[in-house]
Amino acid sequence: MRVPVIAGNWKMFKTAGESAAFAKAFLPLVAGVSGVEIVLAPPFPSIAPLAAALSGSGVGVASQNVHFAAEGAYTGEVSPAMVKDAGAAYCIVGHSERRQYFAEDDESVNRKCRAALAAGLTPILCLGETLAEREAGKTFDVVSRQLREGIREIPPAQAPKVILAYEPVWAIGTGKTATPDQAQEVHAFLRARMREIWGDAAAGVRLLYGGSVKPDNIADLMAREDIDGALVGGASLSPDSFARIVKFK
Ligand code: PGA
Repeated sequence: MRVPVIAGNWKMFKTAGESAAFAKAFLPLVAGVSGVEIVLAPPFPSIAPLAAALSGSGVGVASQNVHFAAEGAYTGEVSPAMVKDAGAAYCIVGHSERRQYFAEDDESVNRKCRAALAAGLTPILCLGETLAEREAGKTFDVVSRQLREGIREIPPAQAPKVILAYEPVWAIGTGKTATPDQAQEVHAFLRARMREIWGDAAAGVRLLYGGSVKPDNIADLMAREDIDGALVGGASLSPDSFARIVKFK
């Protein structure tokens, strides 16, 4: 009932030309793949050229961030409507690198999610604990707070338009994937918390795992009940490895 989502987060990699070249190499590799939603998140200037190169393919485009205001004196920021106008249908919100390096907190993450939904974008809301938090036994407290605050004031009717990504910070870019058991444990917990907030609508929300997802560990992760896809960093930069992840079945 939940269509899996495989999303690539390119972070600060790939110019417009490199993005178009990726699309050209990638599309033939996934031609004929069905039953999975594929999304790529390039840097802002590559959104429009990537969307053009992917046009008609069914592969969606996301921004990696968005501002919560519709417009205004916010130097350096980009609004949800601008992202949409450039050809994106999704936006990543609250990635741990944004929280860590750009001082994003639960409140701004929530405002961004609501602004994205209001503009007709699908937010991919990221949450996850640091290594210190895990070692201190605070994983469930942390993700429960990030979820509750992140989706505050988003009504159940809008829940199906939200995608969540559990990304333990200690697994991002480290080669240290959470085991499928560790990931499933947190995903099941998040699903239960969502049910308390959103009721039955929680059953339809896609919950992605992120953190060192690779072609050789995706199948084990996807086999778990509450893991509905992946948010992939490093392994999404090459058309070949990202295509192998998309074709996890
Ligand atoms: P990684 O990044 O796959 O390189 O660990 C994941 C992410 O930051 O979304």
